[in-house]
Amino acid sequence: MSQKHFALITGASAGLGLAFANQLAAQKHNLILVARRSQRLHDIAQGLQAKHGIEAVYIVADLADTNAPDLIYKQCQENDWPVSMLINNAGYGVPGDFDQVDWATHQAQLNVMLNGLVKLTYLFYPAMKKAGRGGILQVASLAGLAPPTAGHTLYGPMKSFVIKFAHSLHLEGKDFGVHVTAVCPGFTYTEFHDVNGTRNRMNKLSKSLWMSADEVVEQALHALAQNKAIKINGWRNQLIALMTRLLPDKLIRALFHSNIQKYRKRSHD
Ligand SMILES: NC(=O)c1ccc[n+]([C@@H]2O[C@H](COP(=O)([O-])OP(=O)(O)OC[C@H]3O[C@@H](n4cnc5c(N)ncnc54)[C@H](OP(=O)(O)O)[C@@H]3O)[C@@H](O)[C@H]2O)c1
Repeated sequence: MSQKHFALITGASAGLGLAFANQLAAQKHNLILVARRSQRLHDIAQGLQAKHGIEAVYIVADLADTNAPDLIYKQCQENDWPVSMLINNAGYGVPGDFDQVDWATHQAQLNVMLNGLVKLTYLFYPAMKKAGRGGILQVASLAGLAPPTAGHTLYGPMKSFVIKFAHSLHLEGKDFGVHVTAVCPGFTYTEFHDVNGTRNRMNKLSKSLWMSADEVVEQALHALAQNKAIKINGWRNQLIALMTRLLPDKLIRALFHSNIQKYRKRSHD
């Protein structure tokens, strides 16, 4: 059995996932990078190995495929890559009107952001529990705490699920030395808004609302090390989350809805 341990990061080819890879490599963690774009993963793994003297491997997988988590787990077992940290980060937004988005697109998003996240956790958690140590970071979003908005119809509800799921497992894991944290970033500079075609709209938002991927990741890893159940990134996002708890439901829902509508991308746009 290898004594080496690995941090497995989904969505490691860009944005927050890449920032996790950079920071964990600098802390001398060995890495398993997961995403669909193989050339990017190859280049990132090579670069991190050369720069930090760690072992960085990658698995090309599409988490929209419901078999992907089992295949990833199998590959880790076969190669003797024990995973002591799991970062479920892969995700994206689907703008538009719920009924105008084809079912395959909804299904793929559900597979990546719910099925993939839960199944990978289910597969990798038991060994951490048995070892009496480990960390699982579930990348959620402020959207999972904020009131619902029209558009991106499944995104907020899925992130709410991720937060509650993380919190339940956090409570189970703490008796066994396994840290579980949900991280809730607000607007963060990554490829997220380029991928879903909302970058021009989002550029109209105040710059003060945005954070860098590096800042979010540094806070997330710190929260995981401290075994916080939830980390909301940045004081502005913490204030928004607090307002959603303190203000009357009707008021905060109306405030959110009217503000978000200005930036909403409709299916016919
Ligand atoms: N950016 C924000 O403002 C923000 C705010 C709150 C929460 N988040 C959350 O942060 C997480 C990371 O997003 P990001 O902002 O870093 O976006 P990003 O820069 O677009 O990166 C998304 C990552 O997910 C991977 N991915 C997407 N679909 C996949 C699939 N089917 N199978 C495997 N990997 C897939 C992408 O890799 P490939 O394309 O190579 O597969 C990429 O590495 C997401 O869960 C997102 O919901 C982002």
